[in-house]
Amino acid sequence: MSTHIGAQPGDIAPTVLLPGDPLRAKWIAETFLDDARCYSEVRGMYGFTGTWNGHPVSVQGSGMGQPSMAIYVNELITDYDVQSIVRVGSCGAVTDAVGVRDIIIASGACTDSSMNRIAFHGIDYAPVADFGLLRGAVEAAEARDGSPFHVGLIFSSDSFYPARPELLGEMVKYGVLGVEMEASALYTLAAKHGRRALAICTVSDHIVTGEETTSHEREQTFGEMVEIALTAALR
Ligand code: ADE
Repeated sequence: MSTHIGAQPGDIAPTVLLPGDPLRAKWIAETFLDDARCYSEVRGMYGFTGTWNGHPVSVQGSGMGQPSMAIYVNELITDYDVQSIVRVGSCGAVTDAVGVRDIIIASGACTDSSMNRIAFHGIDYAPVADFGLLRGAVEAAEARDGSPFHVGLIFSSDSFYPARPELLGEMVKYGVLGVEMEASALYTLAAKHGRRALAICTVSDHIVTGEETTSHEREQTFGEMVEIALTAALR
């Protein structure tokens, strides 16, 4: 067992899907995996391992925000030798170019978090996705007749309710498509340990228009994103 994951060595597959919501992890395991088995219930942050098209794969809840996500990703990598991690989450759209229910495949992630600044003594490290996973996700999305998808920058915020929401407008001028709360630290941790990481998000709400998805819509678009993630990670 690691500090926060109640799995034995070998219980977790080399490839992990990482939703923020532990109940999404359960839903993914029940909906997409064969022979899924729960390996951890510590703090209610469920983890499951099963197979998809014969390939072993795990799904681990990460919680919300970079500090929580980083606990699970550190332990997945250092205690369970996980090689590839694909975040499957939700995000808010920050530009008219992106609609609610669209999918964003994050090629890179900006952040207001201090985690990178502390790690790099003030240098602005540029956290980017693993290119193989990114290419695989783009090809998988292109091959589907599904929701519109976008490839580009995401902003990993430490605040769901930002003190200065106007700053998001500045980010849009520099190409940012959406806001979520985990990708940046995920990319940095993967780079630190020589592992592969990608974040794919479905747009659950629109910061500009105020539009939001229903829970039924979230489930449907979430499923598309999971299939893209599995195809990209296990091809
Ligand atoms: N995840 C989903 N919507 C979000 C938002 N508006 N801000 C931050 N993270 C989010």
